[in-house]
Amino acid sequence: MDTLRDKVAVITGAAGGIGRAVACALCEGGARLVAVDLDDGGLHTLAEGLGDRGAAVLPHRADVSDAGAFEAVRDAALRRFGRIDIVVNNVGVLTNGLPEDIPVAEWQRIVDINLMSVVRSNAAFLPLLIDQGSGHVVNTASFAGLFTYSYDRLPYAATKAAIVQISEGLAIYLRPKNIGVTVLCPGPVATNITVGVPSFGRGAPLRIPGEQFALLEPAVVGELVADAILRNRFFVPTHANVVEELRRRADDWDAYIDFQISRDRGKANTDG
Ligand SMILES: NC(=O)c1ccc[n+]([C@@H]2O[C@H](COP(=O)([O-])OP(=O)(O)OC[C@H]3O[C@@H](n4cnc5c(N)ncnc54)[C@H](O)[C@@H]3O)[C@@H](O)[C@H]2O)c1
Repeated sequence: MDTLRDKVAVITGAAGGIGRAVACALCEGGARLVAVDLDDGGLHTLAEGLGDRGAAVLPHRADVSDAGAFEAVRDAALRRFGRIDIVVNNVGVLTNGLPEDIPVAEWQRIVDINLMSVVRSNAAFLPLLIDQGSGHVVNTASFAGLFTYSYDRLPYAATKAAIVQISEGLAIYLRPKNIGVTVLCPGPVATNITVGVPSFGRGAPLRIPGEQFALLEPAVVGELVADAILRNRFFVPTHANVVEELRRRADDWDAYIDFQISRDRGKANTDG
């Protein structure tokens, strides 16, 4: 996509954290926005703030795990703006507990929010993007979907790994159709993602992906996403040195697991 000007972007989880930063970066580039979130107050604050800077923003309250949510978002976007160019599937929530303690119902909840939201979004938006022969899809995964540094949030990690795989398949399918796909893989970013996370059993030690990954401000990530859409980049890690971690695991997976077992535990974690 050679410009963001007048493009219409749908962003889920737009009221806070990374989604909000992506919304601001896209508006800065001239995009119009459909901001989707559960948090009505946050959505209206965002819409007012961006509106004051001349941006066109449609706030749309929705729970991304609801059946029909994305069809309603699509229809509202088309009514207001007449087209959709960019879809950012950004909502993701954490859970905590040892593998034997996280109930099946909690697995289902995380799968519905983190993974099935991407599936539902694809069902609503891909036919439209394919028909118009242009567009860009951004899926927010995580370092947790690239390599395993923990066992305290397996439902989260599993959904993020699935998002990486879906995104790669979509890139192979959609790039020849002039539709870009980006998988955003954040490491630690200073957001509210760890606030109010449910914990099961005795809880599990929260582990970070590694001391080498500095905590970033969301605005940095917003800029990365805007740039990835303009340059049609697939893999967008927030910390470039994650590639060294992936190489290390690929070289000797057993040794890598032993290394993770031997790492210090119980440190405070800000990463999703
Ligand atoms: N912050 C990190 O360190 C980090 C690291 C890796 C990946 N991520 C990923 O980045 C994405 C954004 O996370 P964040 O850190 O900005 O979190 P956040 O909690 O600050 O923001 C998430 C937003 O999503 C909204 N939301 C939650 N559930 C929803 C639902 N069911 N329907 C609609 N909206 C809902 C929340 O209201 C909130 O505005 C997530 O996919 C997360 O997994 C974050």
